[in-house]
Amino acid sequence: MFSINMKMFVQGISIVALTGAGVSAESGVPTFRGPEGLWRTFRPEDLATPEAFARNPTLVWEWYDWRRRRIAACQPNPAHRVLAEMEATLPDFILITQNVDGLHQAAGSRKVLELHGNIWRVRCTRCGKVVEDRRVPLPEIPPHCACGGLLRPDVVWFGEPLPTDVLQQAWEAAKRCRCMLIIGTSALVQPAASLPVIAKQSGAYLVEVNVADTPLTSLADEVLRGPAGEVLPRWWEARRASLSGWRCQ
Ligand code: OAD
Repeated sequence: MFSINMKMFVQGISIVALTGAGVSAESGVPTFRGPEGLWRTFRPEDLATPEAFARNPTLVWEWYDWRRRRIAACQPNPAHRVLAEMEATLPDFILITQNVDGLHQAAGSRKVLELHGNIWRVRCTRCGKVVEDRRVPLPEIPPHCACGGLLRPDVVWFGEPLPTDVLQQAWEAAKRCRCMLIIGTSALVQPAASLPVIAKQSGAYLVEVNVADTPLTSLADEVLRGPAGEVLPRWWEARRASLSGWRCQ
C-alpha cells in the first residue's frame, strides 16, 4: 500500500508525473492508439516524419492545422488541474509529458518537460528560430518565417531525436524520484516508456493511471483503473495532506 511506502519520502520527496495522450482524452483531444486513435485513420509515415514533410509540407501542415483547431476547442480537465495543484502544493514535483497540446500549461502547470515538443510553436527550417503561434486556422499553409524559410511544427517526429536537454532532465527526474505517476500513456514509444523503468530500478513507487493495461502495468505498485479525470483527483484527495507536509532534503 502507498502508506507503507511513505517511509521513502522521509529521505526527500520527489514526485514525477509522466503523461500521455490519455490525460487529454476527456478534454476531447484524440489519442493515437486505441479504437478512436489518430493512427487508426492516419499513417504516421505520411504525416509525422521528416521525410513526409520534405515530400509534402502542405499535406503535413493541413493535418497539423486540423489538430490545432481541434485542440483550440478543448479545455483542461480535472486530471490536468489536479497535476497543476500537485505542482503548487508539493515541494518537489515535476511533470513530464509526451503531449504537444499545451493543456497542462493551460491548467496552470509550469514545471513541464515536453518530450515531444509543442504544437503551438513553429520552427524555421532555415534560420532555426522558434516562436509561439497560436493562430487557428493558420493564415498561410505551409507557413513561412520572416527570413523566408519554411516553418515546421516544433514537435518531434518519428525518426527524430528528442530535445537533448529536456530528455536529460527527464532521466534525472526519473532517477531521483520517490514516486512516479504514469498517466494515460500506452508506454509503447521510446524513450518515454523507459522513464518508469528507470524510476522503478532506482527504487521509486510506481502508480499507473489508465483505462486499460499497458506493458508497464505489471511493474506498477499501484494501478488506478479508470479515466484519469476521475481517478487521479480521488487519489490526490486521499493523499494531499500527508504528502504536502514533507520537504525535499
Ligand atoms: P497512446 O494513444 O498511444 O495511448 C493513450 C493511452 O491512454 C492508452 O494506454 C489508453 O488506454 C489511455 N487512455 C485513454 N483514455 C484515457 C483516460 N480517459 N484516462 C486514462 N487513460 C486513458 O498515446 P501516448 O502513449 O501518449 O508521439 O503515445 C505516445 C506517443 O505516440 C505520442 O506522444 C505520439 C504518438 O505517436 C509522437 O508523435 C512522436
